[in-house]
Amino acid sequence: MSGPVLVFDSGIGGLTVLREARVLMPGRRFVYVADDAAFPYGDWEEKALAARIVALFGDLLTRHRPSIVVVACNTASTIVLADLRAAYPDTQFVGTVPAIKPAAERTRSGLVSVLGTPGTVARQYTRDLIASWAQKCHVRLVGSPRLAALAETYMRDGFVDEEEVRTEIAPCFVEKDGRRTDIVVMACTHYPFLVNRMRKTAPWPVDWIDPAEAIARRALSLLPSAHGREDGPDLAIFTSGRTDEASRRLVRGFGLTAA
Ligand code: DGL
Repeated sequence: MSGPVLVFDSGIGGLTVLREARVLMPGRRFVYVADDAAFPYGDWEEKALAARIVALFGDLLTRHRPSIVVVACNTASTIVLADLRAAYPDTQFVGTVPAIKPAAERTRSGLVSVLGTPGTVARQYTRDLIASWAQKCHVRLVGSPRLAALAETYMRDGFVDEEEVRTEIAPCFVEKDGRRTDIVVMACTHYPFLVNRMRKTAPWPVDWIDPAEAIARRALSLLPSAHGREDGPDLAIFTSGRTDEASRRLVRGFGLTAA
């Protein structure tokens, strides 16, 4: 029997990846870990965040013995994937990085925006992706200080201030020489939860790229086939230890039991 699929994020954003993964891997057991004690990752200094995550995984891997780990967080993946692979060479890690290549392939206007946390858009990793795949495009990097937290509130309390969403996404929309931005890459796993509000408050329609399905497919392609489902419920773990009713209800909605 193989171990569970461990999906990791700073908060609830990775649930956008987990829901795709469950559809693709119905026979697998899942453990979802939200490092909400450290949320938001977008504000962290690189070295300190990398050290925190590597240390956290020491315990998570011993405890859950996953067959694969999906780091369902752009902010973490862009700095810590290499460190995780070096520290735990026997574990397979699948990362989440801004979907700049598919955006560059799909854009008609040549104007693409990448909307992520301030951390993700500042990373060399993101700039290297642009240099490798999107040289012919005009790429605008937009670091949003608020959207991930707005998504957290929305999913727990069912409320979001649309004016705040409008303000956060506004810099993504560029007009240049009679052309307009036609693709926005959601480079934070929290944002797909707000995509309808983003569509509503956008100044014109664009294609919003959500990488969740591609990440889940990548994980599936790397997993050896399982023989029977592991016993036990699918778990949700919050590093803060939070047990409030809104969080319990939320994870129940995703078929998880709060540990
Ligand atoms: N969900 C995370 C990401 O994909 C980040 C949210 C945060 O902690 O700032 O980047």
